[in-house]
Amino acid sequence: MSKRKVRLAVIGTGGMANVHASKFAEISACQVVAAVDIDATRVGEFCRKHTILSAFASVDGLLAGADFDAVTIVTPDASHAPLAIRCLKAGKHVLCEKPLAANYPDARRMVAAARKAGVINMVNFSYRDWPCIQAVATLIRRGGLGEIRHVEASYLQAWLASKIWGDWRTTPAWLWRLSSRHGSLGVLGDVGVHIVDFATYPAGPISSVHCRLKTFPKAPDDRVGEYILDANDSAVLDVEFRNGAIGTIQTTRWAGGHANRLFLKIYGTKGSVEIDSDRTTTGYRLCAGKDLDLGKWKEVEARAVPNNYQRFVKSILTGVQDQPDFARGAEVQKILDVCFKSDAAHKPLAV
Ligand SMILES: NC(=O)c1ccc[n+]([C@@H]2O[C@H](COP(=O)([O-])OP(=O)(O)OC[C@H]3O[C@@H](n4cnc5c(N)ncnc54)[C@H](O)[C@@H]3O)[C@@H](O)[C@H]2O)c1
Repeated sequence: MSKRKVRLAVIGTGGMANVHASKFAEISACQVVAAVDIDATRVGEFCRKHTILSAFASVDGLLAGADFDAVTIVTPDASHAPLAIRCLKAGKHVLCEKPLAANYPDARRMVAAARKAGVINMVNFSYRDWPCIQAVATLIRRGGLGEIRHVEASYLQAWLASKIWGDWRTTPAWLWRLSSRHGSLGVLGDVGVHIVDFATYPAGPISSVHCRLKTFPKAPDDRVGEYILDANDSAVLDVEFRNGAIGTIQTTRWAGGHANRLFLKIYGTKGSVEIDSDRTTTGYRLCAGKDLDLGKWKEVEARAVPNNYQRFVKSILTGVQDQPDFARGAEVQKILDVCFKSDAAHKPLAV
């Protein structure tokens, strides 16, 4: 592997960008050299906090004024596709936040642009960083659960029912997530995208989905200032997998008591697994082999795995594309598009 450092620019310097800057700073083969935000005050403060030398007000400014290899895109969802395609056309490697795009056609355009540029591309399905999900995916791939029959998956958040992460009514980072005009696909696009990846990565691809989306009244006239609160708050997906299994995937922002819980149970002909992030993310529970007839569960510790930031930098240095890539992001985006159509049509639809 080359000894040179990957020079990286952070695009968007809000809440999640702090995680990106800190994680990339831990990687000795990477240096964050620039940051961009349309909010000049925010980008200035961000650069001071993370000791980043150059601040820019636009991606065009960044491309014209900085010497760098790669970008990480941490802006609101609707801007991912145009910003990523702009950077790909300039030959930059791109890590992009989830959801990859606002819809499947845009996601496919991103995949095509990345292929044409021949650069490393990844989508930040951040729960791939958990040892438990990688271990469960490997176990299933090796046949440890037999044939998959049933899947139960949920991603629960509490910030609409509580002030566990502050008051959403006065926080722009929560308000844009409630407004389709601000590019949000609701809870389905925000964290449903994670649980769809989390369930289908080990259990396999989905062949059809019957989705129900719901937006609850939560402010006078369903608006707060410029934000029209029309994006979905709760989603229930009744799914069939290509391997014949069936299951449910659900997500909501109304789950008081669960700040950020991912839960996954997969049942096969030879055993069952459970991941519950409220308990642990470094291991999982298994009921298989002799324990199956006794209905006994045991705790299994999983091996540590590299995070997406490390995978991205390593991919750039080695030239070997790792997962999850844009094509995977687009696959998940396709499921989200079908969910919206299924909800509108009140019937199951093929993916
Ligand atoms: N992977 C995860 O677990 C995870 C967690 C949180 C957020 N996210 C994702 O990260 C992204 C950002 O979320 P956030 O919570 O940090 O939002 P945020 O609102 O806190 O920050 C977004 C920032 O982007 C800036 N911005 C907007 N348009 C821009 C543009 N065209 N060019 C440059 N800057 C621009 C805004 O001014 C703001 O500072 C979203 O896509 C979200 O889904 C992912």
